[in-house]
Amino acid sequence: MAHIQIINGPNLNLLGKRQPEIYGAETLADVEANCAALAQELGLEVSFFQSNHEGAIIECIHAARENAQGIVINPAAYTHTSVAILDALNAFDGAVIEVHISNVHKRESFRHHSYVSGRADAVIAGLGTEGYQAALRRMVTLTAG
Ligand code: DQA
Repeated sequence: MAHIQIINGPNLNLLGKRQPEIYGAETLADVEANCAALAQELGLEVSFFQSNHEGAIIECIHAARENAQGIVINPAAYTHTSVAILDALNAFDGAVIEVHISNVHKRESFRHHSYVSGRADAVIAGLGTEGYQAALRRMVTLTAG
């Protein structure tokens, strides 16, 4: 069974409370529960990690080198700033899907560039929290065989 590590970056612990007009009313716990239920249906094993600290996210990606076949990552604001997260993902051999809850291309221009997209096998933006579920569905194909 493929193991998928789901990683959420800074401020996503406030999902549901933070700018709900942009990010919706679901909490991170809701998102994780929905992903866990879907993963069971899809025959995937999933683990969840959220941190407001860049180094902790990098260490989670390093650990995934040993124990995961895929990473679903919403790097949040680090998307637009972090060469270090890109470097960590470049050291991971499995599938990578970048998820953004909002459509970053419809927002401020500083959100239009992502360091992570050049490494990602797929980029999902603007599907709301359903983006995580879309990513898991795609992971079935990306991690098959
Ligand atoms: C985000 C978009 C980022 O620009 C922002 O900094 C976030 C969340 C999203 O999920 O839409 O924190 O990654």
